[in-house]
Amino acid sequence: MIVLSGETKFLNPFILASGPPTRTGDMIARAFKLGWAGAVTKTISLNYKQMIDVSPRIAEINGGFQNIELVSPRPPEDWADDIKRLKAEYSDNTVIASITAEADKFADWHKLTLMMQQAGADVLELNFSCPHGLPEMGMGATCSDSPQIAADIVEEIKKVSMIPVWAKLSPNVPNISLLADICAKSGADGITAINTVKGFAGIDIETGMPKINVAGSSAYGGISGGLIKPVAMKAVSEIASSVNIAVSAAGGIRNWRDAVEFIMLGASTVQICTEVMLNGYEIITELNNGLYEYFKRHNINSMEEIKGKSLKYIKSHSELDNDRVSYAVIDENKCVNCGKCYKACEDSGYQAIIQNYAAMPVIAKEKCTGCGLCKIVCPLNCIELTLNKVTISELQR
Ligand SMILES: Cc1cc2nc3c(=O)[nH]c(=O)nc-3n(C[C@H](O)[C@H](O)[C@H](O)COP(=O)(O)O)c2cc1C
Repeated sequence: MIVLSGETKFLNPFILASGPPTRTGDMIARAFKLGWAGAVTKTISLNYKQMIDVSPRIAEINGGFQNIELVSPRPPEDWADDIKRLKAEYSDNTVIASITAEADKFADWHKLTLMMQQAGADVLELNFSCPHGLPEMGMGATCSDSPQIAADIVEEIKKVSMIPVWAKLSPNVPNISLLADICAKSGADGITAINTVKGFAGIDIETGMPKINVAGSSAYGGISGGLIKPVAMKAVSEIASSVNIAVSAAGGIRNWRDAVEFIMLGASTVQICTEVMLNGYEIITELNNGLYEYFKRHNINSMEEIKGKSLKYIKSHSELDNDRVSYAVIDENKCVNCGKCYKACEDSGYQAIIQNYAAMPVIAKEKCTGCGLCKIVCPLNCIELTLNKVTISELQR
């Protein structure tokens, strides 16, 4: 399945995001062999000697992570050799070089750009978004502290870059679509969204120590994995609605279904880090097969047919139809009268469920406002919101 992302061709939409799975060219080569279409290198910088990682630097949170890992400690020259070798062996795969530098050191940005494009990278990804460690050195998320800083860097890089330039943005900014729009206007060819969400994994309550305990101290870090998918979906859909350049989605993609959601919200490729860290490169087989079967089932011939398909359903709240009320209906054949819906409606709803200990709970239609909480708490899936909606005016008549 060939995918076009702007002017860049991918063998399929699945890309390894910048991170531990892309620490070296040899690792990326193994992933390409298994079927990954592209890989974003671990972020490369001229300040690599400053990138001394602490231990530990990752904590697990409900299937996701907080990490405080820095960018690549490898010299850019080593990365250039790796990219050259990768492109010689895997010319059909897409190598994306992730770079960062101090926000105002344009000479460094230029140098990295030239090195990576001469090595044969297909795309440059500008890391404007690492939320921990790097900002203290004036790099990473510092570059999106103000849209003007990001715009200036993109403009500078476009003066020397012959390959497409993607800006990787942070969700930890007031307005990510404005930032994307300004990057696009400054010449960016694509946007990657999102990097990690700034957060804190928590405290071990037996000791009072942070879950990432670096010799008795900790730091805020980046949250990744399924936990951040809703944040990423909002960012990707907002960006895809406001710019006309390629969007590469990252943030909580665990399977091909998540990928389809992001594509329907306007992404042309999807990047994955945490799921690979948890389950290895082999997940690509299931990702590719699942997507292929889904396309076959729905008679879809190209990604373009579904790209951005769902954007039209996202509106401002004031545009939603608030003159219609649906109400809950209980399937009496499934209900075991456990009382969960009653408790939810009594304590957090509209007291619209009448508990009937002898038989089934009963919905008081005139009180139900269709909030849907009873449906959510029902362990047996036996509550639906009726499709026979009535308008408020009808109810009032
Ligand atoms: C341990 C770790 C290290 C990471 N290092 C980088 C990095 O060097 N450069 C970068 O742009 N993003 C880095 N990321 C962010 C990922 O590329 C990705 O944007 C983020 O984790 C969200 O995707 P996910 O939920 O699939 O992990 C890192 C993420 C993790 C978990």
